[in-house]
Amino acid sequence: MKGKIPLALLALATVASMGAARADDIDPANVAAGMKLFRAKANCQTCHGWAGDGRKIDSQMPDGANLRETTLDRAAVLKTIQCGRPGAGMPAFDRLAYSDGRCYGMKTEDLTKSGLSLTDPPANLAAREMNMIVDFLFDKVVGKGPMTHAACVEYWGSDVDVCKDLAP
Ligand code: HEC
Repeated sequence: MKGKIPLALLALATVASMGAARADDIDPANVAAGMKLFRAKANCQTCHGWAGDGRKIDSQMPDGANLRETTLDRAAVLKTIQCGRPGAGMPAFDRLAYSDGRCYGMKTEDLTKSGLSLTDPPANLAAREMNMIVDFLFDKVVGKGPMTHAACVEYWGSDVDVCKDLAP
């Protein structure tokens, strides 16, 4: 029994410091840049909604997943942005995604053979840009619960029109 308490404390301390290190690693400048990319250049919002909640902006677009409720970790989200989801409407943002097997070990001809179509991305992104979008998502979107009025004001930095109808 005696040895167990320090071990448990050690485990707790390790988990706490890992969490802290992760939060500190996110540079606010990258979050701001990632948010801009999400809305403009990468236009993720056209399918996922500005809040990432899956309420897409353009009704003609595929139904994007609710990113607020995703259970994917950072690495998996990054991979999804880079490689997309062939056959499922999520575009690949890495220009070279299916050129050399870096995505799921597949090349364009493999997708064609399997009958998997790839949706065109609104733009191609550099690795740095994809990482900034992931920073933004994990700081403001993933696991943050439904968009409320307060969260909306914080998200936009002021009480913009889209926040007006949200629950407090
Ligand atoms: C053309 C529409 C479209 C655009 C643009 C788009 N997505 Fe998606 N995305 C989808 C669809 C559709 C899915 C669901 C795919 C599936 O069913 O597996 C998805 C799934 C995802 C997932 C997986 C979620 C999960 O929990 O499995 C992530 C993460 C994601 N998108 C992030 C992004 C980001 C970030 C951007 C911008 C860089 C973006 N998407 C742009 C349509 C889009």
